[in-house]
Amino acid sequence: MGCYSSYQEAFRRSLEDPEGFWGEAAEKIDWYQKWDKVLDDSNKPFYRWFTGGVLNTCYNCIDRHVEQGRADQYAIIYDSPVTDTIQKITYAEFLEQVKIFAGGLASLGVTKGDTVVIYMPMVPQALVAMLACARLGAIHSVVFGGFAPKELAVRIDDAKPKVIISATCGIEVKKIIPYKPLLDRAIELASHKPERCVILKRPQAEAELTPGRDIWWDELVAGASPAECVPVAATDPLYILYTSGTTGIPKGIVRDNGGHAVALYWTMKHIYGVEPGDVYWAASDVGWVVGHSYIVYGPLLYGNTTIVYEGKPVGTPDPGAFWRVISQHKVKVLFTAPTAFRAIKREDAEGAYLKKYDLSHFEALFLAGERTDPDTYHWASQLLQRPVIDHWWQTETAWAIAGNFRGIELLPIKPGSATKPSPGYDVRIVDNDNRELGPNQPGVVVVKLPLPPATLPTLWQNDQRFLESYLKPFPGYYFTGDEGYMDEDGYVYIMGRVDDVINVAGHRLSTGAMEEVIATHPAVAECAVIGAADDFKGQLPVGLVVLKAGVDQDPEEIKKELIQMVRDQIGPIASFKSVAIVARLPKTRSGKILRGTMRKIADGEQYSIPSTIDDPATLEEINQALQTIGYGGGRPKQ
Ligand code: COA
Ligand code: AMP
Repeated sequence: MGCYSSYQEAFRRSLEDPEGFWGEAAEKIDWYQKWDKVLDDSNKPFYRWFTGGVLNTCYNCIDRHVEQGRADQYAIIYDSPVTDTIQKITYAEFLEQVKIFAGGLASLGVTKGDTVVIYMPMVPQALVAMLACARLGAIHSVVFGGFAPKELAVRIDDAKPKVIISATCGIEVKKIIPYKPLLDRAIELASHKPERCVILKRPQAEAELTPGRDIWWDELVAGASPAECVPVAATDPLYILYTSGTTGIPKGIVRDNGGHAVALYWTMKHIYGVEPGDVYWAASDVGWVVGHSYIVYGPLLYGNTTIVYEGKPVGTPDPGAFWRVISQHKVKVLFTAPTAFRAIKREDAEGAYLKKYDLSHFEALFLAGERTDPDTYHWASQLLQRPVIDHWWQTETAWAIAGNFRGIELLPIKPGSATKPSPGYDVRIVDNDNRELGPNQPGVVVVKLPLPPATLPTLWQNDQRFLESYLKPFPGYYFTGDEGYMDEDGYVYIMGRVDDVINVAGHRLSTGAMEEVIATHPAVAECAVIGAADDFKGQLPVGLVVLKAGVDQDPEEIKKELIQMVRDQIGPIASFKSVAIVARLPKTRSGKILRGTMRKIADGEQYSIPSTIDDPATLEEINQALQTIGYGGGRPKQ
């Protein structure tokens, strides 16, 4: 693999000679058959990587490590303060578990190209399920446990799984969340019905099985024979991961096998600066892209030990939880969301808990999911005395679009910036007419095509939506949906989304989806949900609701019902807790709701009164309504 002495050299080569750059990186992956073409541009703007190549991702994540001397190294350390469990699983043991579970899935009829939905808490079996699918060439789609049945149902209807894998419950600090009733309800709501469901029995909750459809995990594996790896094309899908778009229908991001394995392997050394055998910890959840890439595939491809942590940064049991895990398992690199550090800071601003632990193996902290605000950056870097590295990425890309490359050279850190574009990503800032902007000029962040390996080739069975959402808005470029700027040194600053996607505690959510739920309440005439700034979670959704004429229900009761509806239909993860009832919403003369202006008002910022506004007086009305629920205070620019 190319050995680069500077970031600049690696970056330049990746753009000037992408085939050479990624072709060399691909030598680190075991292939049944090498590719015909590194970058296949025969069907622009759809680009494919490693066409003609044949491999198996599970083989690369497990079997080859067992064959090449890592059989007794831990693949997984499951650390669950909520169940008081620590379980260590070697690569050899993990291989046995995956082989036999894959055999079980095969006995249920799962074969190459079938889809399987996984709705599981943070237990090692979630990884077994994912890798077993990869082993068979089946396509998994993991749905985050904090989503409500309706959201799960939407994903079931899109992915059309043959089998769903779940568990009796998840555990949120001290709360037991029974998953099985949520799954049953989702299947009831969905038009597509899976043939079978495999349920992992956890001691914390019982569940009723539906005869003929459901089977216990343990019973399935008891009767199964081990399954071997099924060779798949590099361009075959490994997984689908749904992420919030601007509407209520999530986008099914497709990940291929070949490009994904090559790029993720590359990132472990060059971005995170770890070596095979090191302990690497992404404190996230397998339901998010960070979990897919850096709890599961990246560290396993590279032969690391990955930590599966079923707990929180605080409350399980205290704000020293992360330091305890780092010191107990000799974690070298931690990756989490800034909000986790804000949670720790809130409870232990002086870092008293840190002093109790030996962090001598710990080398660097990586943050993503939302921008690392300079306050959090300074607090964390002072506390840890290690590099604190913000890096920017999306479900769509599977790995960082911009970051710092400690495996090549650690670039000077500028607080508030995600540092520089990753090799393979030709990042540009443009205005709405696709004209490139100069240094320090804020605009829309786009990436010149082609995108590097592992990035989405399309949306699940929806090429048209892929083109409309990502490629048509700025021809020749991938539209990230983010706004920001690059400074005179080429540092990237991501300031937020230009669309209706918000980030709550590092979780990506659609305000459009929440509006769709609220609009179904019989008392609601119209509504808007905006993402307001929050010191702890980064952003929180705030609903502004206009009631129908003649509604005499108590407004406080309506608010409570709306909050409950969003919780029931989207999930607790939406953290939807604030609603203001307003007489009308500010709109343009053509009827477009001025969400951006309302967001500025909610955040107490200065705002410009749009020239197209229908009635400027609505803005002050909104300001007053927001102030009654603890937001607002924005002032018009003179
Ligand atoms: N299953 C069921 N419910 C879940 C859930 C899951 N897997 N995950 C979260 N929830 C629930 C929570 O219990 C909470 O419910 P509540 O309204 O009854 O309190 C709600 O969803 C909101 O969860 P969250 O936004 O995570 O808030 P929190 O206060 O429980 O925790 C943090 C806040 C910052 C500690 C937590 O979000 C965190 O650790 N985040 C950083 C790591 C991370 O997840 N990153 C993701 C991308 S890198
Ligand atoms: P997700 O797909 O859930 O990873 O969310 C992706 C979105 O989160 C991006 O489009 C950004 O808006 C935001 N995001 C993620 N990481 C960062 C970061 N380091 N800095 C700024 N925004 C980020």
